[in-house]
Amino acid sequence: MIEIVNVSQNWAIGRKGGLMIHIPADMQYFRRMTKGKTCIMGSTTLESFPNMAPLKDRVNIVLIDDDRKKRPESVAAQEKDAAEGRSTKLIYVHSPQEACELVKDLPKDDVYVIGGASIYRLMLPYCDTCLVTHNDLSEEGADTYYPDLTATGEWTMTEEGEPQQYEGVTFRFCRYERKNS
Ligand SMILES: NC(=O)c1ccc[n+]([C@@H]2O[C@H](COP(=O)([O-])OP(=O)(O)OC[C@H]3O[C@@H](n4cnc5c(N)ncnc54)[C@H](OP(=O)(O)O)[C@@H]3O)[C@@H](O)[C@H]2O)c1
Repeated sequence: MIEIVNVSQNWAIGRKGGLMIHIPADMQYFRRMTKGKTCIMGSTTLESFPNMAPLKDRVNIVLIDDDRKKRPESVAAQEKDAAEGRSTKLIYVHSPQEACELVKDLPKDDVYVIGGASIYRLMLPYCDTCLVTHNDLSEEGADTYYPDLTATGEWTMTEEGEPQQYEGVTFRFCRYERKNS
């Protein structure tokens, strides 16, 4: 499995339930990498999408504790997509193990963990690759962080993209691999 995340300084990933920054090129990269694939996410991340609808053309596996939070809107969107011939799916699970069981026969590069913070942490032990878009925005106001992959010695950066600019923020696409994988 692969985690895909956008981090600001000190691995900050969110504030007040939202992203730190929306970088259009990063959104495009996210869509390109995950389209047609399976995405694992937490219920809060699903709720943050427009109309709480699952991501189109992807299998959305959503971890949820409290079944009362299941979204009829999401199910309706899924049914509409199926009716229009798109391959969107929404599946709720109650544990990381249940998510792993569902994807165990898929190629590991076809499964992306897309957040939020709690799900990144829960699923990281099952992942060998992390696609990290680093940006140099200050962590000011951040309340949500990704694990610092440089802190434990378990990960190595295998790709570091050229720096790009968006509204004064510098960002680059990077890839980390687990050392013993
Ligand atoms: N920078 C990025 O790339 C990026 C990407 C995604 C998200 N984010 C940010 O991350 C933040 C959201 O992160 P978050 O940690 O609050 O939310 P989250 O990980 O999206 O979802 C948390 C929810 O997942 C469910 N859950 C968690 N652990 C579970 C388990 N072991 N078994 C079953 N269900 C479980 C619970 O659902 P219920 O309690 O609802 O039942 C929990 O409330 C936001 O600020 C968002 O913008 C950043």
